[in-house]
Amino acid sequence: MNETIRKQLEHRTIREFKDHSIPHEIFEQLIEVARRTATHTGMQACSIIRVTDQEIKNQIAGVCNQEYVARAPELLIFIVDQYRNYQIAKEKNFTAESAKDINRFFASFTDACLMAQNVVTAAESEGLGTVYLGSIHNNTEKICEILKLPELTFPVLGLGIGYPAQDPQLKPRMDMRLRVFENAYVAFDNYLEEIRDYDEEMRTYYDLRDPGRTVDSFSAQVVSRFKHSNPKRQNMLDAIRKQGFQLTD
Ligand SMILES: Cc1cc2nc3c(=O)[nH]c(=O)nc-3n(C[C@H](O)[C@H](O)[C@H](O)COP(=O)(O)O)c2cc1C
Repeated sequence: MNETIRKQLEHRTIREFKDHSIPHEIFEQLIEVARRTATHTGMQACSIIRVTDQEIKNQIAGVCNQEYVARAPELLIFIVDQYRNYQIAKEKNFTAESAKDINRFFASFTDACLMAQNVVTAAESEGLGTVYLGSIHNNTEKICEILKLPELTFPVLGLGIGYPAQDPQLKPRMDMRLRVFENAYVAFDNYLEEIRDYDEEMRTYYDLRDPGRTVDSFSAQVVSRFKHSNPKRQNMLDAIRKQGFQLTD
């Protein structure tokens, strides 16, 4: 097995970091990897906000409701960014109405995710740890306000990066038989039956955020997560529209 794959198979989310910063040259390499990431039609319509101001980090941690966000040595927010190309076109006397459409939005959204994961892979190869932060969407509009995001931009994901100060267990995953299909989707008759062993295995996992006890079975987690849908995350479409995107055909 090569070193890249070995590192990828060791992936664990890291939520506590050593109190020292990432050397400048390494950080620059991570940004260069972000730059080289594949991008829809070459448009590069996504960007990164590097949050270095502790006060802004604290505000973002407040939205995330996760205090460890404020302690991340590096905090990056990956954003959809149609603003830049809209302006480029405008300077060439073209008003790019299509910059606002749903296709562009998802192209940028996908680009931002790919860029983030490329940074994660590069960071992990350097012995760094990372935590994705979907929790910025507890209040997407507030994040837009904090980061002064102009129209035609939208926050996708946060990413905390630093040297790990914890050594979590590998989190179990279900068998890929249930997730990889050949030519057409395969629906199973009885999923609980199919995931029986995985359900048990999950119960041996300790989440370091809740010390001293193992987590629930996977099926119990599924039910509880569906039961407690976060109401704050239900108005994301409003936030997308507010940023100037048109969610109609
Ligand atoms: C899109 C996305 C959003 C996530 N958001 C958060 C988050 O807000 N806070 C957090 O602590 N972890 C977050 N995570 C990390 C997941 O909880 C973690 O990847 C998952 O539990 C599997 O654990 P592992 O990464 O250690 O294998 C997120 C992961 C992804 C892919």
